[in-house]
Amino acid sequence: MVIVYANGQWVNENDAVIPVDERGHQFGDGVYEVTRIYEGKPFMMREHVERLVKSAEAIRMDLGMTVEEIESLMMEAVERSGEKNCDVYIQITRGIAKRGHLFPKDVKPSITMTVRPMEVIAMEERLAGKTAIFHEDERWKNCYIKSLNLLPNILAKQVANDAGAYEAILIRDGYVTEGTSSNIFIVQNGELVTRPLSNYILAGITRMRVEQLAEQLNIPFVEREFTKEDVLEAEEVFMTSTTNEVLPLVEIDGTTIGSGVAGPVTERVAKQFLQTV
Ligand SMILES: Cc1ncc(COP(=O)(O)O)c(C=O)c1O
Repeated sequence: MVIVYANGQWVNENDAVIPVDERGHQFGDGVYEVTRIYEGKPFMMREHVERLVKSAEAIRMDLGMTVEEIESLMMEAVERSGEKNCDVYIQITRGIAKRGHLFPKDVKPSITMTVRPMEVIAMEERLAGKTAIFHEDERWKNCYIKSLNLLPNILAKQVANDAGAYEAILIRDGYVTEGTSSNIFIVQNGELVTRPLSNYILAGITRMRVEQLAEQLNIPFVEREFTKEDVLEAEEVFMTSTTNEVLPLVEIDGTTIGSGVAGPVTERVAKQFLQTV
């Protein structure tokens, strides 16, 4: 069952619970996280909540809750939903105050949350892979913050969709940054390559897990910048995110990657990932 939480209340999905002057609604002045639950168990929830705290600090917002309190609120929502495989979306904004750009004084953060069932995609379907396009990275310079301001991501994803593709791979100054809602990996000379963490990308939690899995699987893991040409000439390409997990990209801008289905490294990583969740 879908569960919706808004500032201390468990409400119905379509209830009008956000005042017009809520700053997330007015300005996108807030941060969020998406966490997965597999078979009733949270997956890397601590890492997600720690990133939420980091995002909040970066926009100078005091959450007024500890990591443990946030986790237990999220788990309460999961229990209320009765779902075993679901995602938890939590959004925290600077609060509700008369519209004005300056930070309002004495205002509590506004917390909303949803829990929705998630399907686990069959491995065979996953390994068939998806397609992508390249798109200019038009975002600001603080992409390490998981902020509500997703307009450039939405626009790029729509361009991809209009072109019949699943994801847009973003390019800044000639180098791949990440996807619109994913991190990007290539396999080059047998090495698993992804862009180093910086303010230009989100420190993906799935990316973090893939780094750990690469070590377990004895796959060389390298952080370096790479170009559009590197992607097109790569042996394999995949994207990672909480909702998509490890997802092969087999055709990019009309060019077939490798053999046109998930390559051996991607397959090993994707299977190992599923094992660990
Ligand atoms: C811009 C961006 N990069 C990367 C990711 C992947 O992060 P994670 O693996 O923590 O879901 C996301 C997830 O939504 C994202 O929005």
